[in-house]
Amino acid sequence: MKLLILNGPNLNMLGIREPQHYGKENYKTLCERIEAHAQTLGISAEVYQSNHEGALVDKIQEAFFEKVDGIVFNPGAYTHTSIALLDALKAVSIPTVEVHISDVDQREDFRKVSYIRAACLQTISGHGTDGYLEAMTLLYQHLKGANAK
Ligand code: DQA
Repeated sequence: MKLLILNGPNLNMLGIREPQHYGKENYKTLCERIEAHAQTLGISAEVYQSNHEGALVDKIQEAFFEKVDGIVFNPGAYTHTSIALLDALKAVSIPTVEVHISDVDQREDFRKVSYIRAACLQTISGHGTDGYLEAMTLLYQHLKGANAK
C-alpha cells in the first residue's frame, strides 16, 4: 500500500510559523514521524510539500499514474480558495483525508470554508500534527477494508 502525504503552502515553515496555531515541531520532525508511522503500518509513504498550487495539482495527477492508494492532504491556505485542487482530487478519485493542524472551524470565518472537503473521505482538524498519523491509519483501515471486499 502506497500513500502520498501532501502539504501545501507554508507547511515547510512548521516550528517557525505561528506556534500558537501550529505548534513547535518542525517540518523535518513531522516527516520523520510520518515515515516511522508508515513503517509501523507496513506501508510506504511519500511526503511532498509545495508552495505552488499548480505543483500540487501536478502531484495529484502523478499519484494517479503511479497508482498511489490514498492521499493525506493538508492544502494549507489553498483549502479555502482552490477549485483546481478539488477538481484534481475528483479527477483521480483516490481516497483522500483532509488534515488541518489547527482547528479551522474555531478560527476566522474564511477558514471554515473548504473547497476540497467535497472530494474527501473525512476531515481531521485541530489534532496538531498527530492528525497526519491518524489520517494515515484511517486510510490504511479504509483501504484494507476495501480490498477485503
Ligand atoms: C492549516 C489551516 C489553514 O487555514 C492555513 O492556511 C494553513 C494551515 C492547518 O494545518 O491548520 O496554512 O491548513
